[in-house]
Amino acid sequence: MDVKKLIAGYDRIPLTNLPTPLEHARNLSTLLGGPNIYFKRDDCTALAFGGNKTRKLEFVMADAVKKGANVMITIGGLQSNWARQMSSAARKLGMEVILVLEGRKPENFQGNLLLDHIMGCELRFQEIPQEEEDREIQGECPITGRIAEELRKAGKVPYAAPLGAATPLGNLGYINAAVELQEQTEQMGIKMDYIVVTTGTGGTQAGVELGVRLLNLPARVVGLSISRHTREKAEEIAELSNKTLAFLGVKGFDFTPEEISVNYDYMGKAYGVPTEKGIEAIRTVARTEGVILCPVYTGKAMAGLIDLVGKGLFKKGENVIFLHTGGGTANFAYSQIFQ
Ligand SMILES: Cc1ncc(COP(=O)(O)O)c(C=O)c1O
Repeated sequence: MDVKKLIAGYDRIPLTNLPTPLEHARNLSTLLGGPNIYFKRDDCTALAFGGNKTRKLEFVMADAVKKGANVMITIGGLQSNWARQMSSAARKLGMEVILVLEGRKPENFQGNLLLDHIMGCELRFQEIPQEEEDREIQGECPITGRIAEELRKAGKVPYAAPLGAATPLGNLGYINAAVELQEQTEQMGIKMDYIVVTTGTGGTQAGVELGVRLLNLPARVVGLSISRHTREKAEEIAELSNKTLAFLGVKGFDFTPEEISVNYDYMGKAYGVPTEKGIEAIRTVARTEGVILCPVYTGKAMAGLIDLVGKGLFKKGENVIFLHTGGGTANFAYSQIFQ
């Protein structure tokens, strides 16, 4: 199947330079003494310091523009990378932004929240009940939909974007990332044994899983979850992947939860609460590779990767690609953990 052609059939607004680099993390690989570790540098995408949401936003924003939107609305945590990147995309396209952020207004703005503020987003601080957050991720948008309704009455054209863009449209972005990985590993002459993904909503992992299957890549995908789950993430990811297959009109196979690997061992106490091993992993990667991970997502996942090298899952001579999904901007809001 010509996957590139399939994706090219969907509206997309270029918001960053692609492909992102695939780099051999030589010093880290030597230090760990196991597999060859590579970083897929999606932290180097554009949109107010980039991250994994940029690829998804290329498709989501194209949909918003097609619908004539002039105000983008979404929800997230105070340090939401998604909210920051979506705001940047909206500003670039001349739109207003309303962000509903979980919790009370802090005295000092830092990290992603500071960037949202600098971009002039309208910030609404409130409690977001878990059930409503889940429905926002599913695209039912109970909170942002209500705001959109008010805006419509005021003559605006709002677009409520589901948290994290864990949708078939958003997934197209990570199918594209898999296409890039195929081309880059072919050029480098290496086999992809594993792709390690930091999993939150599961949208990014679903996109990568789809890419691997559609392209028939040899890689196994390992998702390392950093957030709570009410339902098994493997079930959610299989479901979302199947929805995307239907959206693409691809028939002939589907995903079952048993085929999807999600490990919860490195999340720690809760989403957004740093772990000792995660902080250590951030330091290790910063000091060996000069690459910045984050305490909420990629630091915890890297702690997992390092541990799994020790446990022998990733073996000497194998090639492990760590998808660097970004998040470095959150470090500024967590500065005390490094002092
Ligand atoms: C830095 C970073 N890594 C990983 C993720 C997880 O991505 P997903 O929600 O698609 O699973 C996010 C989501 O916000 C993120 O900001």
